[in-house]
Amino acid sequence: MKHIIVIGAQWGDEGKGKIVDFLSTEIDAVVRYQGGANAGHTIFIKGKKFVLHLIPSGIVREGVLCIIGNGVVLDPFAFFEELEILTTNGVNYNDRIFILPNAHLVLPFHKIFDRLSEDKNQKIGTTGKGIGPAYADKYSRLGIRVIDIFNDDYIKDQLNVNIKIKNTLLNNFYNDSEIVIEDVFNQIMKIRDKLRSFIIDDATFVSNLIATNKRILFEGAQGSLLDVDFGTYPFVTSSNPTIGGVLTGSGVSLKDIKDSEVIGVVKAYSTRVGEGPFPTEIKNDLGEYLRSKGNEYGATTGRPRRCGWLDLVALMYSKQINGFSSLAITKLDVLSGLNKINVCIDYELDGNELNYFPVETFTLSKVVPIYKEFDGWEESIQGIRNFEKLPQNAKNYLHFIEDFLKIKIKIISTGFERDDSIIL
Ligand code: GDP
Ligand code: IMO
Ligand code: MG
Repeated sequence: MKHIIVIGAQWGDEGKGKIVDFLSTEIDAVVRYQGGANAGHTIFIKGKKFVLHLIPSGIVREGVLCIIGNGVVLDPFAFFEELEILTTNGVNYNDRIFILPNAHLVLPFHKIFDRLSEDKNQKIGTTGKGIGPAYADKYSRLGIRVIDIFNDDYIKDQLNVNIKIKNTLLNNFYNDSEIVIEDVFNQIMKIRDKLRSFIIDDATFVSNLIATNKRILFEGAQGSLLDVDFGTYPFVTSSNPTIGGVLTGSGVSLKDIKDSEVIGVVKAYSTRVGEGPFPTEIKNDLGEYLRSKGNEYGATTGRPRRCGWLDLVALMYSKQINGFSSLAITKLDVLSGLNKINVCIDYELDGNELNYFPVETFTLSKVVPIYKEFDGWEESIQGIRNFEKLPQNAKNYLHFIEDFLKIKIKIISTGFERDDSIIL
């Protein structure tokens, strides 16, 4: 069985949600394997907009199971809010959402520390959803997993140590008010009965689905260049959106997924939200134009996204880390109307060609992109579903990307609506 893995190839917001929803007609279950409510995955169905943060993007396809993997950090309050929105919109999620037992919780105090860290330490431009602090607790072995919330003694022991350390920091470093352990305990008590029916106690649930011939789609959040190991550290998120995260974040084996289609989702240009190097960023009116035409505002925070040209050096790196077997190019329609379109094909550093994506952030912030210029196309291509109907210059652009990266483009998205796509 060929499973599907969908990974953002850039700095997030590539259109993963749309692609996952589009592909969900052919699969049995969607698994989110990392990240948390920092993600915002948008789907449009006949003009109705859904933004998913924690719940996998398969939820708007009837019958598809949705699994929140152990690699996700789950904010239970955000989760319930999302369920409410689904209910309001008439989406039936009964018996379709499962949370793996070893996923960690994001609690309100994690958000406080996210904010304090942004204010006082290195500013990353986080989403403020408590992601970094929750993963830090997980790796410090001070976290609370969803399966642990039914064990009062365990929760109290963990909180006793964790909150004492946090209060020391609040008192002596952040000069902020202390956290009260009982308050945190009560917050957990508030959600635990409501959460119970979603939690399954089997960490090998996804692997078992595969064993019973179910076809799975693994949905990445964020993007490869925000990966904590491979991204533009420290301006990254705190998890692994790249391929390795699939194994550690969902409890499947390499054998289970070795023949998967690994789809890199690539926006036809580049965007980034928050701080950090962005070699092809366009800082003039053209960047503003792309932002407005592409409606480039964060799906989670509403922040304006920084916009720039497509960066094939970065994508080559992303391809190598993830082993993409094909690409989905999104938002091609946004490029209509541009006289010229640039694509970055190399970097120059101190007058020399670099030929690779430097992992050292300071170096990356100094590189100068070398562009190849393409003629644009005037006409709107929004909603085109047949490759032959694309203008020749759009085809040239796509062919160049394929040839440069040596990966086949299998999906081209030409609009935000669910079915506005070309399949190749
Ligand atoms: P994700 O985080 O990767 O799922 O992407 P987001 O949902 O944060 O951002 C992508 C935005 O682009 C959303 O508003 C989508 O509705 C929109 N979108 C996706 N594909 C297309 C496309 O092909 N054309 C246009 N115009 N918009 C698209
Ligand atoms: P989706 O899944 C774009 C960015 C933040 C910040 C950095 C760290 O919708 O593509 P965090 O809150 O994770 O600690 O913030 O990562 N970021 C995203 N950027 N899309 C996302 O998710 C993002 N999730 C986090 O802007 O720069
Ligand atoms: Mg997004």
